[in-house]
Amino acid sequence: MGLLAVGAGLAALTACTPEVSGPPSGTSASAVPSPTVPSPTVPSPTGSPTPTAARHTAPAPATGALPPSASLAKQHSLSDPRSPWVVVNKHRPLTPRQFVPPDLVQPAVQLATSGESALLNSTTAAAAARLFAAAAAGGVTLTLASGYRSFQSQTATYSGYVSSRGQAAADTASARPGFSEHQTGWAFDIGDGGGACSFQPCFAEQPAAVWVKANAYKYGFVVRYPWMLHETTGYYYEPWHLRYIGAEAAGDMAKRGILTVEEYFGLEPAPGYF
Ligand code: DAL
Ligand code: ZN
Repeated sequence: MGLLAVGAGLAALTACTPEVSGPPSGTSASAVPSPTVPSPTVPSPTGSPTPTAARHTAPAPATGALPPSASLAKQHSLSDPRSPWVVVNKHRPLTPRQFVPPDLVQPAVQLATSGESALLNSTTAAAAARLFAAAAAGGVTLTLASGYRSFQSQTATYSGYVSSRGQAAADTASARPGFSEHQTGWAFDIGDGGGACSFQPCFAEQPAAVWVKANAYKYGFVVRYPWMLHETTGYYYEPWHLRYIGAEAAGDMAKRGILTVEEYFGLEPAPGYF
């Protein structure tokens, strides 16, 4: 209980993008999101990339993509938050809204956070340990910057964004309570241990982000909010936000060049709330 209470406060400081006023306790300052607002390097509201953003290659849309077929060994629910295939987006809140994963554990990885945000569900925690170990073997440091966030801590995080940016801008970077993957335990944000570009668009060029973009699928993860696909996912590029869906599905997505779970599972794009 105490662990969760501490985490609820921290989650207000550790969001998916740099909307913080100072380092959370127990976290090195270098690993803390910078308060710098990343607007110069995110896509404009019309979707036109800025010159900096244009350095990233926009993925080619997958053509003729089909939802996962029965050829995958195991199928999972797209709605149950205990399912590795649950799709949570602006059209698909968690059910129940106040869901709490029953098997939260602290993964055996390098932590850059504490309290509840250092927790993941047990399956994701085990996969994260394998992912981080593989990155380390390749000379790349990954840290867990923000994992599980309760409905209450997401409320605080989202409210902070709304206070500082207004609701429209907040909705491009932070999920409303009950609509965040972080609440499922299947998702987390990474840092690189050095703090360079943490939660900023330039993180995409850091070795940690480059490595996970190329390799995360082998361990069952996808980069959930890819570059320039905010009209599908509802959020601008978050090269730090990883989502576990299992190695078979993640490998299938990679093989077929499908970048979003909305497309992979045959669901409608979710650019905004209803
Ligand atoms: N930044 C992601 C969308 C979240 O708040 O869950
Ligand atoms: Zn995130």
